[in-house]
Amino acid sequence: MGESPVNCKLVRLYRRIDNTFGIEAKANRWLEYRSEEELQRVIPALHSERVLHVGGGSNLLFTRDFDGTVLHSGIRFVAPVAADAESVWVRVGAAIVWDDFVAYTVANGWSGAENLSLIPGEVGASAVQNIGAYGVEAKDLIDTVECVSLKDGSRRVFRNEECNYAYRSSIFKHELKGQYAVTYVTYRLKKQFVPHLEYGNLREQLGSVATLSAADVRRKIIEVRQSKLPDPKVQGNAGSFFMNPIVSREKFESLRAQYPQMPFYEVTDGVKIPAGWMIEQCGWKGRSLGRAGVYEKQALILVNRGGATGEDVVRLCETIQKDVAKKFGIEIYPEVNVI
Ligand code: EPU
Repeated sequence: MGESPVNCKLVRLYRRIDNTFGIEAKANRWLEYRSEEELQRVIPALHSERVLHVGGGSNLLFTRDFDGTVLHSGIRFVAPVAADAESVWVRVGAAIVWDDFVAYTVANGWSGAENLSLIPGEVGASAVQNIGAYGVEAKDLIDTVECVSLKDGSRRVFRNEECNYAYRSSIFKHELKGQYAVTYVTYRLKKQFVPHLEYGNLREQLGSVATLSAADVRRKIIEVRQSKLPDPKVQGNAGSFFMNPIVSREKFESLRAQYPQMPFYEVTDGVKIPAGWMIEQCGWKGRSLGRAGVYEKQALILVNRGGATGEDVVRLCETIQKDVAKKFGIEIYPEVNVI
């Protein structure tokens, strides 16, 4: 690899970029920093290189090696930093595994994150991606996001309302893409359990438990996810591959007349149609194209059937996009970042 201009302790010799799709990809250099100060020291040496900041690699699809430096946070820290009668604020380092954080909140009797149990990835990505499941999104819990500028190393703290959060989207994915590294996220949790059971049939699945707790919800969500979603250790995947499209009310009404059984969710700016349902209607559920396939139990998930390349997955993605557009007149787009 030659001599590195930065502190060698941070450089990992092994340059493979870990990703849950199980696709082979290498970077020129891999750097993991363990503090904001270490990151700030590294930045001046990166100015002429391409930089990719990764989290747990659970939302990435590589179509080629990365010709540049991969940065990864090694900031591991979790502690409550403030409290009032109703809430507790917990500051968490970007490298903490998201589900370890959820387990920690539930073990402490705090509520808010339990519906987001078992989502893969790390805390830093939760604030970039606005991860969500079962009627709750990370933005509902995020108080502040601490960042370091990858341009000049300056620190900036974003309040929730400055992050432009929307469905699977934030300022860090769009306007400020690639410009900041998230170093810490502070979440606000409730001291009393506040259930969010409106999604799908979650309420019925939990049964008539007299005294429901956040731990009960976590247990059920883990059970549901494990029964529906493939384990990346067994079959490479990046969770939902596509986002659920939001269509106008007019478009929705015309589709509904044609497909009365179509599931949907009312949202503020239109109606959300599950892409998984449309993909299944197109006959793709369980099918493969080369070494990439559509998961048997959830058509929103593309899987690596073994030895797939990023190009195999992209080919499958594009074929599905075309079929959905042809049948429903709706464009669907990947949630996964294609590199
Ligand atoms: N559906 C089908 N066929 C399928 C898949 C789904 O008909 O193959 C139907 C279901 O029957 C249901 C509706 O589509 O009526 C929605 O399905 P589901 O509840 O499984 O959720 P989703 O919309 O497919 C979203 C998130 C998931 C999250 C679940 C639960 C996105 C992109 N995905 O999926 O998030 O776990 O809701 O809240 O919004 C992820 O982002 O990686 C992820 C797994």
